[in-house]
Amino acid sequence: MTGARETQNTMKAVGFTEFGGPEVLRTISLPVPSPGPGQVRVRVAAATVNPTDLAFRSGGHRSMPDGMQPPYVPGMDLAGTVDLAGPGVSGFAPGARVMAAVTPFRPGGGAQAEYVVVAADALALVPETISLTAAATLPMNALTVRAALDELALRPGQTLAITGAAGAVGGYAIQLGRLDGLRIIADASPADKDLVGGLGADIVVPRGPDLADRIREVCPGGVDALLDAALIGPPALPAVRDGGQLMAVRPFAGQPERDITVSLVLVFHHLHDAGTLARLASLASGGTLSLRVADVLPAERAADAHRRFGAGGVRGRLVLEF
Ligand SMILES: NC(=O)c1ccc[n+]([C@@H]2O[C@H](COP(=O)([O-])OP(=O)(O)OC[C@H]3O[C@@H](n4cnc5c(N)ncnc54)[C@H](OP(=O)(O)O)[C@@H]3O)[C@@H](O)[C@H]2O)c1
Repeated sequence: MTGARETQNTMKAVGFTEFGGPEVLRTISLPVPSPGPGQVRVRVAAATVNPTDLAFRSGGHRSMPDGMQPPYVPGMDLAGTVDLAGPGVSGFAPGARVMAAVTPFRPGGGAQAEYVVVAADALALVPETISLTAAATLPMNALTVRAALDELALRPGQTLAITGAAGAVGGYAIQLGRLDGLRIIADASPADKDLVGGLGADIVVPRGPDLADRIREVCPGGVDALLDAALIGPPALPAVRDGGQLMAVRPFAGQPERDITVSLVLVFHHLHDAGTLARLASLASGGTLSLRVADVLPAERAADAHRRFGAGGVRGRLVLEF
């Protein structure tokens, strides 16, 4: 191993042993993990709270894989510094600033711990211009959107509608979609109209139950594709043209119609796309992607972060500091 230094034996993490509300979250003590071949131990500075963490905590997401025992550690986004590189890893010197998206569905748990072992091919360097706090808001959601847009494979000039446009997925979808030359129709509440327009949406339509009608008013033939970050589901389908596409971010509870292709993007298939993450980081450094931090809380206040996020209305990401 390279870069070894004296490290404590135990570390702080956010964890829970039983599924439930935010109150099940505790600050727990765990052994500091060791990096294996091809892995890097990161001293985490910042880890974000995402919708998936709330589902993970409540047990509403999916069952835990065999061999995973409580306490469970949530978190899919982290930024920090390289602590120790495992055998066969080069290019990550101790102290280097890095970011990654990781899965919490593994025995070692997720991102919300002082030390996290990450596959080297999931790590990207954090550009100098970006703080670790801001960097932690990028990996999981930007990788998701890049994967969704790649799968949609729209041509420049085609129209993409985005629901939940004020959110993290929505915001990156607006900005990356624009970069791909797409015409963006995005939904927003009156309070979020300037935010969503400022992110670059060509047309902002009111969010709400008649969203598909509002989209058809501005795009009578229907959009080429719709990215459903607000989980509207089947009621969003009428906004899509015959033969168009709907990209879901959670399983779609309905039947496709009119030759519309319904797909589900899964970021779990893209956690090792370090090259893509590095390109996204570069876009953030250049200002093309906006990194939005709603607030920074100590890790000990993870339950508060879940309560605030679960109540809705948080714009930008809540970041836990370790
Ligand atoms: N499949 C994957 O790999 C993957 C990866 C990343 C994320 N996701 C999923 O993608 C979804 C969005 O994530 P996110 O991080 O963008 O969440 P977020 O930041 O909370 O954004 C969701 C946005 O949708 C808005 N919204 C809620 N209900 C709406 C409605 N009926 N109409 C219009 N807008 C509505 C929310 O507004 P309020 O705050 O006012 O409610 C919020 O602005 C989550 O379900 C997440 O789990 C999936």
